[in-house]
Amino acid sequence: MNAPRYAHVTGWGRYAPTQVLTNRDLERMVDTNDEWIVSRTGIRERRVAAAHETTASMGAVAGLRAIRTAGIDPEEIDLIILATLTPDYWMPSTAALVKEAIGNTRAAAMDVSAACSGFVYAYATAQAYITSGLAKHVLVIGAELLTRFLDYSDRNTCILFGDGAGAVVLSASDEAGGGLGIELTTEPQGAYMIWLPAGGAKSPPSSETIARGEHYIRMEGRETYRFATRTLASTALASIGRAGLEPSDVELFIPHQANIRIIEAVAKGLDLPMDRMFVNLDRYGNTSAASVPIALAEAVNEGRLRVGDHVTLVAFGAGFTSGAVTLQWTADPARGVAGDAAVDPADVHVRLPVDWDSVDPIPAALAELMERPGTVDVPLDDVVPGEPEDARQPVGS
Ligand code: ACO
Repeated sequence: MNAPRYAHVTGWGRYAPTQVLTNRDLERMVDTNDEWIVSRTGIRERRVAAAHETTASMGAVAGLRAIRTAGIDPEEIDLIILATLTPDYWMPSTAALVKEAIGNTRAAAMDVSAACSGFVYAYATAQAYITSGLAKHVLVIGAELLTRFLDYSDRNTCILFGDGAGAVVLSASDEAGGGLGIELTTEPQGAYMIWLPAGGAKSPPSSETIARGEHYIRMEGRETYRFATRTLASTALASIGRAGLEPSDVELFIPHQANIRIIEAVAKGLDLPMDRMFVNLDRYGNTSAASVPIALAEAVNEGRLRVGDHVTLVAFGAGFTSGAVTLQWTADPARGVAGDAAVDPADVHVRLPVDWDSVDPIPAALAELMERPGTVDVPLDDVVPGEPEDARQPVGS
Protein backbone atom coordinates (compact mmCIF):
# COMPACT_ATOMS: atom_id res chain seq x y z
CA MET A 1 0.00 0.00 0.00
CA ASN A 2 1.34 3.45 -0.90
CA ALA A 3 1.68 6.05 1.86
CA PRO A 4 -0.96 8.79 1.72
CA ARG A 5 0.32 11.98 0.18
CA TYR A 6 -1.53 14.49 2.31
CA ALA A 7 -2.38 15.21 5.95
CA HIS A 8 -5.53 17.30 6.41
CA VAL A 9 -6.77 19.11 9.50
CA THR A 10 -10.04 17.29 10.21
CA GLY A 11 -10.60 18.39 13.81
CA TRP A 12 -9.79 21.37 16.02
CA GLY A 13 -10.59 22.35 19.60
CA ARG A 14 -9.47 24.58 22.44
CA TYR A 15 -9.81 25.05 26.14
CA ALA A 16 -9.14 28.11 28.30
CA PRO A 17 -9.51 28.14 32.09
CA THR A 18 -12.35 30.33 33.31
CA GLN A 19 -10.35 32.45 35.79
CA VAL A 20 -9.30 35.78 34.23
CA LEU A 21 -6.23 37.74 35.36
CA THR A 22 -6.51 41.34 34.11
CA ASN A 23 -3.84 44.01 33.78
CA ARG A 24 -5.52 45.77 36.70
CA ASP A 25 -5.01 42.63 38.82
CA LEU A 26 -1.31 42.74 37.90
CA GLU A 27 -1.10 46.41 38.91
CA ARG A 28 -1.73 45.21 42.46
CA MET A 29 1.18 42.74 42.29
CA VAL A 30 4.02 44.55 40.50
CA ASP A 31 5.01 48.06 39.46
CA THR A 32 3.16 48.12 36.14
CA ASN A 33 0.01 49.59 34.66
CA ASP A 34 -2.66 48.72 32.14
CA GLU A 35 -1.60 51.46 29.74
CA TRP A 36 2.02 50.21 29.61
CA ILE A 37 1.01 46.59 29.09
CA VAL A 38 -1.57 47.36 26.39
CA SER A 39 0.64 49.77 24.47
CA ARG A 40 3.82 47.61 24.64
CA THR A 41 2.20 44.19 24.16
CA GLY A 42 -1.51 44.44 23.24
CA ILE A 43 -2.40 42.12 26.12
CA ARG A 44 -5.42 43.04 28.28
CA GLU A 45 -6.02 39.83 30.21
CA ARG A 46 -4.96 36.20 30.42
CA ARG A 47 -6.38 32.97 31.90
CA VAL A 48 -5.16 31.19 35.02
CA ALA A 49 -5.66 27.45 35.57
CA ALA A 50 -7.50 26.43 38.75
CA ALA A 51 -5.76 24.30 41.38
CA HIS A 52 -7.24 21.02 40.09
CA GLU A 53 -6.23 21.76 36.50
CA THR A 54 -2.98 20.73 34.87
CA THR A 55 -1.36 20.86 31.45
CA ALA A 56 -2.62 17.30 30.83
CA SER A 57 -6.20 18.08 31.87
CA MET A 58 -6.41 21.17 29.68
CA GLY A 59 -4.75 19.33 26.79
CA ALA A 60 -7.19 16.43 27.15
CA VAL A 61 -10.24 18.73 26.93
CA ALA A 62 -8.88 20.53 23.85
CA GLY A 63 -7.84 17.19 22.34
CA LEU A 64 -11.24 15.55 22.88
CA ARG A 65 -12.95 18.59 21.39
CA ALA A 66 -10.74 18.27 18.29
CA ILE A 67 -11.61 14.55 18.08
CA ARG A 68 -15.35 15.30 18.34
CA THR A 69 -15.01 17.98 15.66
CA ALA A 70 -13.27 15.44 13.41
CA GLY A 71 -16.18 13.06 14.01
CA ILE A 72 -13.95 10.09 14.83
CA ASP A 73 -13.70 7.83 17.86
CA PRO A 74 -10.79 8.51 20.28
CA GLU A 75 -9.66 4.91 19.62
CA GLU A 76 -8.95 5.82 16.00
CA ILE A 77 -6.06 8.09 17.05
CA ASP A 78 -2.73 6.35 16.25
CA LEU A 79 -0.38 8.92 17.75
CA ILE A 80 -0.65 11.75 20.29
CA ILE A 81 1.98 14.51 20.15
CA LEU A 82 1.77 17.14 22.87
CA ALA A 83 3.88 20.29 22.71
CA THR A 84 4.60 22.00 26.02
CA LEU A 85 7.29 23.67 28.09
CA THR A 86 5.23 23.12 31.25
CA PRO A 87 4.65 19.35 31.48
CA ASP A 88 2.78 17.95 34.49
CA TYR A 89 5.91 15.95 35.42
CA TRP A 90 9.40 15.35 34.06
CA MET A 91 8.12 11.85 33.49
CA PRO A 92 5.79 10.34 32.38
CA SER A 93 5.11 12.44 29.32
CA THR A 94 2.04 14.65 29.51
CA ALA A 95 0.87 13.02 26.26
CA ALA A 96 0.71 9.67 28.06
CA LEU A 97 -1.66 11.13 30.67
CA VAL A 98 -3.77 12.69 27.93
CA LYS A 99 -4.02 9.37 26.12
CA GLU A 100 -5.84 7.74 29.03
CA ALA A 101 -7.96 10.82 29.74
CA ILE A 102 -9.37 10.87 26.21
CA GLY A 103 -10.19 7.15 26.30
CA ASN A 104 -7.60 5.87 23.86
CA THR A 105 -5.87 2.50 24.43
CA ARG A 106 -3.79 2.07 21.30
CA ALA A 107 -1.97 5.29 20.38
CA ALA A 108 1.73 6.01 20.80
CA ALA A 109 2.14 9.19 22.86
CA MET A 110 5.02 11.63 23.27
CA ASP A 111 5.81 15.22 24.18
CA VAL A 112 7.66 17.72 22.00
CA SER A 113 9.79 20.49 23.50
CA ALA A 114 10.32 23.55 21.31
CA ALA A 115 8.81 26.23 23.60
CA CYS A 116 6.41 28.59 21.83
CA SER A 117 7.21 26.98 18.46
CA GLY A 118 6.26 23.60 19.94
CA PHE A 119 2.87 23.25 18.29
CA VAL A 120 4.28 23.96 14.82
CA TYR A 121 7.10 21.44 15.44
CA ALA A 122 4.52 18.88 16.63
CA TYR A 123 2.34 19.57 13.59
CA ALA A 124 5.31 18.99 11.28
CA THR A 125 6.12 15.74 13.10
CA ALA A 126 2.50 14.56 12.78
CA GLN A 127 2.51 15.34 9.08
CA ALA A 128 5.71 13.32 8.63
CA TYR A 129 4.19 10.32 10.44
CA ILE A 130 1.10 10.46 8.24
CA THR A 131 2.79 10.97 4.88
CA SER A 132 5.27 8.16 5.66
CA GLY A 133 2.32 5.81 6.30
CA LEU A 134 3.09 5.31 10.01
CA ALA A 135 -0.16 6.84 11.24
CA LYS A 136 -3.62 7.61 9.89
CA HIS A 137 -5.00 9.97 12.55
CA VAL A 138 -2.69 12.03 14.78
CA LEU A 139 -3.82 14.22 17.67
CA VAL A 140 -1.56 17.28 17.95
CA ILE A 141 -1.91 19.32 21.13
CA GLY A 142 -0.31 22.51 22.43
CA ALA A 143 -0.95 22.93 26.18
CA GLU A 144 0.65 25.19 28.76
CA LEU A 145 0.28 26.08 32.41
CA LEU A 146 2.74 28.96 32.52
CA THR A 147 1.26 30.85 35.48
CA ARG A 148 2.92 28.35 37.86
CA PHE A 149 6.39 29.15 36.46
CA LEU A 150 6.27 32.93 36.71
CA ASP A 151 7.93 35.23 39.19
CA TYR A 152 5.16 37.63 40.19
CA SER A 153 7.76 40.16 41.32
CA ASP A 154 9.32 40.33 37.84
CA ARG A 155 7.29 42.77 35.75
CA ASN A 156 9.30 41.88 32.65
CA THR A 157 7.80 38.41 32.46
CA CYS A 158 4.71 37.99 34.67
CA ILE A 159 2.57 40.31 32.56
CA LEU A 160 3.07 38.31 29.37
CA PHE A 161 1.94 34.75 29.91
CA GLY A 162 -1.28 32.79 30.44
CA ASP A 163 -2.69 29.24 30.49
CA GLY A 164 -4.68 27.20 27.97
CA ALA A 165 -4.68 24.43 25.37
CA GLY A 166 -5.51 23.92 21.72
CA ALA A 167 -5.47 20.87 19.47
CA VAL A 168 -5.96 19.58 15.96
CA VAL A 169 -6.53 16.14 14.46
CA LEU A 170 -4.50 15.49 11.31
CA SER A 171 -5.83 12.73 9.07
CA ALA A 172 -4.34 10.88 6.10
CA SER A 173 -5.81 11.53 2.67
CA ASP A 174 -4.98 11.09 -0.99
CA GLU A 175 -6.95 14.24 -1.82
CA ALA A 176 -4.81 17.35 -2.27
CA GLY A 177 -4.82 19.76 0.70
CA GLY A 178 -3.57 20.09 4.26
CA GLY A 179 0.06 21.00 5.00
CA LEU A 180 1.82 22.05 1.79
CA GLY A 181 4.98 23.80 2.99
CA ILE A 182 6.90 23.55 6.26
CA GLU A 183 9.91 25.49 7.61
CA LEU A 184 11.56 24.87 11.00
CA THR A 185 14.63 26.68 12.37
CA THR A 186 16.72 26.60 15.56
CA GLU A 187 19.35 29.19 16.56
CA PRO A 188 21.08 28.03 19.76
CA GLN A 189 23.03 31.27 20.17
CA GLY A 190 19.77 32.52 21.67
CA ALA A 191 19.59 29.58 24.10
CA TYR A 192 19.69 31.69 27.25
CA MET A 193 17.47 34.54 26.09
CA ILE A 194 14.37 32.74 27.38
CA TRP A 195 15.11 29.97 29.84
CA LEU A 196 14.20 28.29 33.08
CA PRO A 197 17.54 27.75 34.83
CA ALA A 198 16.90 25.17 37.53
CA GLY A 199 15.16 21.82 37.82
CA GLY A 200 17.07 20.05 35.04
CA ALA A 201 20.28 18.01 35.05
CA LYS A 202 22.53 21.09 34.96
CA SER A 203 20.99 22.47 38.13
CA PRO A 204 18.75 19.99 39.93
CA PRO A 205 16.08 21.47 42.19
CA SER A 206 17.27 22.32 45.70
CA SER A 207 16.46 24.80 48.44
CA GLU A 208 19.29 26.93 47.04
CA THR A 209 17.91 27.04 43.48
CA ILE A 210 14.53 27.96 44.92
CA ALA A 211 16.03 30.68 47.15
CA ARG A 212 17.64 32.10 44.01
CA GLY A 213 14.31 32.03 42.14
CA GLU A 214 15.83 29.84 39.45
CA HIS A 215 12.64 27.80 39.03
CA TYR A 216 10.99 30.75 37.26
CA ILE A 217 11.05 31.73 33.56
CA ARG A 218 13.71 34.33 32.72
CA MET A 219 13.77 36.39 29.60
CA GLU A 220 15.80 39.03 27.80
CA GLY A 221 12.78 40.83 26.34
CA ARG A 222 14.53 43.11 23.89
CA GLU A 223 16.76 40.38 22.41
CA THR A 224 13.75 38.06 22.10
CA TYR A 225 11.79 40.83 20.43
CA ARG A 226 14.61 41.41 17.95
CA PHE A 227 14.82 37.71 17.13
CA ALA A 228 11.06 37.47 16.65
CA THR A 229 10.78 40.46 14.34
CA ARG A 230 13.85 39.31 12.36
CA THR A 231 12.72 35.70 11.99
CA LEU A 232 8.94 35.35 11.87
CA ALA A 233 8.38 36.88 8.44
CA SER A 234 11.31 34.99 6.87
CA THR A 235 10.16 31.68 8.38
CA ALA A 236 6.62 32.27 7.12
CA LEU A 237 7.97 33.25 3.70
CA ALA A 238 10.03 30.04 3.43
CA SER A 239 7.02 27.86 4.24
CA ILE A 240 4.79 29.79 1.81
CA GLY A 241 7.45 29.38 -0.90
CA ARG A 242 7.65 25.61 -0.27
CA ALA A 243 3.88 25.47 -0.75
CA GLY A 244 4.39 27.10 -4.18
CA LEU A 245 2.55 30.25 -3.10
CA GLU A 246 3.09 33.97 -2.60
CA PRO A 247 2.20 35.73 0.70
CA SER A 248 -0.74 37.41 -1.02
CA ASP A 249 -2.18 33.93 -1.77
CA VAL A 250 -2.52 33.25 1.98
CA GLU A 251 -5.97 34.28 3.21
CA LEU A 252 -5.11 34.14 6.93
CA PHE A 253 -2.00 34.03 9.11
CA ILE A 254 -2.12 32.51 12.59
CA PRO A 255 0.99 33.99 14.25
CA HIS A 256 2.20 33.08 17.72
CA GLN A 257 0.34 35.42 20.05
CA ALA A 258 3.25 37.01 21.94
CA ASN A 259 3.05 40.73 21.25
CA ILE A 260 0.87 42.81 18.90
CA ARG A 261 3.91 44.82 17.81
CA ILE A 262 5.65 41.62 16.71
CA ILE A 263 2.57 40.60 14.70
CA GLU A 264 2.46 44.07 13.11
CA ALA A 265 6.11 43.62 12.12
CA VAL A 266 5.26 40.30 10.45
CA ALA A 267 2.46 41.93 8.46
CA LYS A 268 4.84 44.71 7.43
CA GLY A 269 7.60 42.23 6.54
CA LEU A 270 5.19 40.33 4.29
CA ASP A 271 3.69 43.55 2.91
CA LEU A 272 0.20 42.49 3.97
CA PRO A 273 -2.55 44.36 5.83
CA MET A 274 -3.18 43.55 9.52
CA ASP A 275 -6.58 42.05 8.69
CA ARG A 276 -4.74 39.00 7.31
CA MET A 277 -3.30 38.40 10.81
CA PHE A 278 -5.52 36.67 13.38
CA VAL A 279 -5.11 38.24 16.82
CA ASN A 280 -6.53 37.10 20.16
CA LEU A 281 -3.59 37.88 22.48
CA ASP A 282 -5.59 40.68 24.07
CA ARG A 283 -7.68 37.99 25.81
CA TYR A 284 -5.15 35.20 26.47
CA GLY A 285 -1.68 36.73 26.56
CA ASN A 286 1.15 34.46 25.44
CA THR A 287 0.14 30.83 26.00
CA SER A 288 3.36 29.54 24.39
CA ALA A 289 2.77 26.21 22.57
CA ALA A 290 -0.99 26.59 23.07
CA SER A 291 -1.21 29.97 21.39
CA VAL A 292 -1.29 28.90 17.71
CA PRO A 293 -3.84 26.06 18.11
CA ILE A 294 -6.13 28.18 20.35
CA ALA A 295 -5.97 30.97 17.76
CA LEU A 296 -6.56 28.56 14.87
CA ALA A 297 -9.62 27.02 16.54
CA GLU A 298 -11.05 30.45 17.33
CA ALA A 299 -10.37 31.74 13.82
CA VAL A 300 -12.18 28.80 12.24
CA ASN A 301 -15.13 29.00 14.65
CA GLU A 302 -15.41 32.74 13.98
CA GLY A 303 -15.75 32.08 10.25
CA ARG A 304 -12.35 33.47 9.29
CA LEU A 305 -11.48 30.41 7.13
CA ARG A 306 -13.36 28.82 4.25
CA VAL A 307 -12.80 25.54 2.44
CA GLY A 308 -9.98 26.07 -0.07
CA ASP A 309 -8.37 28.96 1.84
CA HIS A 310 -4.65 28.94 2.56
CA VAL A 311 -3.49 29.59 6.10
CA THR A 312 0.02 29.99 7.52
CA LEU A 313 0.74 29.04 11.13
CA VAL A 314 3.95 30.74 12.28
CA ALA A 315 5.66 30.81 15.66
CA PHE A 316 8.93 31.61 17.44
CA GLY A 317 10.18 30.73 20.88
CA ALA A 318 12.94 29.78 23.27
CA GLY A 319 15.81 27.91 21.72
CA PHE A 320 15.66 30.18 19.71
CA THR A 321 13.22 28.20 17.58
CA SER A 322 10.86 29.22 14.84
CA GLY A 323 8.49 27.30 12.61
CA ALA A 324 5.79 27.76 10.01
CA VAL A 325 3.28 25.53 8.24
CA THR A 326 1.34 26.71 5.22
CA LEU A 327 -1.73 24.59 4.63
CA GLN A 328 -4.89 24.46 2.59
CA TRP A 329 -8.03 24.30 4.70
CA THR A 330 -10.41 21.50 3.65
CA ALA A 331 -12.72 20.86 6.64
CA ASP A 332 -16.24 22.22 7.12
CA PRO A 333 -15.62 25.20 9.46
CA ALA A 334 -19.10 24.83 10.98
CA ARG A 335 -18.10 21.59 12.76
CA GLY A 336 -15.96 23.28 15.41
CA VAL A 337 -18.65 24.84 17.60
CA ALA A 338 -20.50 21.53 17.92
CA GLY A 339 -17.22 19.73 18.64
CA ASP A 340 -16.48 22.12 21.50
CA ALA A 341 -20.00 21.74 22.89
CA ALA A 342 -19.76 17.94 22.81
CA VAL A 343 -17.10 17.89 25.56
CA ASP A 344 -17.87 19.03 29.09
CA PRO A 345 -14.55 19.65 30.89
CA ALA A 346 -16.08 18.24 34.09
CA ASP A 347 -16.30 14.82 32.38
CA VAL A 348 -12.58 14.65 31.54
CA HIS A 349 -10.34 13.04 34.16
CA VAL A 350 -6.58 12.65 34.29
CA ARG A 351 -5.22 9.74 36.35
CA LEU A 352 -3.90 10.85 39.72
CA PRO A 353 -0.93 9.22 41.46
CA VAL A 354 -1.54 6.70 44.25
CA ASP A 355 -0.42 7.66 47.80
CA TRP A 356 0.92 11.06 46.73
CA ASP A 357 -0.54 14.51 46.72
CA SER A 358 1.15 17.59 45.35
CA VAL A 359 1.66 20.73 47.35
CA ASP A 360 -0.80 23.58 46.68
CA PRO A 361 0.14 24.48 43.08
CA ILE A 362 -1.22 28.03 43.09
CA PRO A 363 1.53 30.69 43.40
CA ALA A 364 1.05 32.77 46.55
CA ALA A 365 0.68 35.95 44.50
CA LEU A 366 -2.35 34.46 42.73
CA ALA A 367 -3.96 32.78 45.73
CA GLU A 368 -6.16 35.72 46.66
CA LEU A 369 -7.37 36.08 43.10
CA MET A 370 -8.15 32.37 42.80
CA GLU A 371 -10.27 32.45 45.94
CA ARG A 372 -12.19 35.54 44.89
CA PRO A 373 -15.76 34.36 44.40
CA GLY A 374 -18.07 35.47 41.66
CA THR A 375 -15.78 37.94 39.91
CA VAL A 376 -15.04 35.89 36.86
CA ASP A 377 -16.34 37.49 33.72
CA VAL A 378 -16.34 34.80 31.05
CA PRO A 379 -16.51 36.37 27.60
CA LEU A 380 -19.57 35.16 25.75
CA ASP A 381 -17.52 33.80 22.90
CA ASP A 382 -16.05 31.26 25.31
CA VAL A 383 -19.42 29.97 26.44
CA VAL A 384 -20.53 27.32 24.03
CA PRO A 385 -23.84 25.46 24.04
CA GLY A 386 -23.72 22.76 26.70
CA GLU A 387 -21.05 24.55 28.71
CA PRO A 388 -22.90 26.49 31.37
CA GLU A 389 -21.53 29.93 32.12
CA ASP A 390 -20.90 28.98 35.74
CA ALA A 391 -18.75 25.93 34.88
CA ARG A 392 -15.98 26.82 37.32
CA GLN A 393 -14.57 23.34 38.02
CA PRO A 394 -13.76 22.35 34.49
CA VAL A 395 -11.61 19.25 34.76
CA GLY A 396 -10.79 16.35 37.02
CA SER A 397 -11.82 16.19 40.63
N1 ACO B 1 5.37 47.70 33.34
C1 ACO B 1 5.94 48.93 33.31
N2 ACO B 1 7.19 49.13 32.86
C2 ACO B 1 7.90 48.08 32.46
C3 ACO B 1 7.37 46.77 32.49
C4 ACO B 1 6.06 46.61 32.95
N3 ACO B 1 5.46 45.39 33.01
N4 ACO B 1 8.31 45.92 32.02
C5 ACO B 1 9.38 46.66 31.72
N5 ACO B 1 9.14 47.96 31.99
C6 ACO B 1 10.04 49.10 31.82
C7 ACO B 1 11.48 48.68 31.75
O1 ACO B 1 12.02 48.56 33.04
C8 ACO B 1 12.09 49.83 30.97
O2 ACO B 1 12.30 50.92 31.84
P1 ACO B 1 13.62 51.82 31.70
O3 ACO B 1 13.54 52.42 30.33
O4 ACO B 1 13.47 52.78 32.81
O5 ACO B 1 14.77 50.85 31.85
C9 ACO B 1 10.99 50.23 30.00
O6 ACO B 1 9.76 49.71 30.56
C10 ACO B 1 11.19 49.69 28.62
O7 ACO B 1 11.53 48.30 28.73
P2 ACO B 1 11.81 47.43 27.45
O8 ACO B 1 12.24 46.06 27.89
O9 ACO B 1 12.72 48.15 26.51
O10 ACO B 1 10.36 47.39 26.81
P3 ACO B 1 9.95 46.82 25.42
O11 ACO B 1 9.29 47.86 24.62
O12 ACO B 1 11.05 46.03 24.78
O13 ACO B 1 8.79 45.77 25.82
C11 ACO B 1 8.53 43.40 26.10
C12 ACO B 1 9.14 44.68 26.67
C13 ACO B 1 7.02 43.58 26.06
C14 ACO B 1 8.89 42.23 27.00
C15 ACO B 1 9.06 43.19 24.65
O14 ACO B 1 10.46 43.33 24.65
C16 ACO B 1 8.69 41.85 24.10
O15 ACO B 1 7.52 41.58 23.83
N6 ACO B 1 9.70 40.98 23.86
C17 ACO B 1 9.43 39.65 23.34
C18 ACO B 1 9.03 38.77 24.47
C19 ACO B 1 8.40 37.50 24.01
O16 ACO B 1 7.69 37.45 23.03
N7 ACO B 1 8.66 36.44 24.76
C20 ACO B 1 8.03 35.18 24.53
C21 ACO B 1 8.93 34.30 23.80
S1 ACO B 1 8.12 32.84 23.41
C22 ACO B 1 8.67 31.54 24.40
O17 ACO B 1 9.29 30.63 23.93
C23 ACO B 1 8.30 31.50 25.83
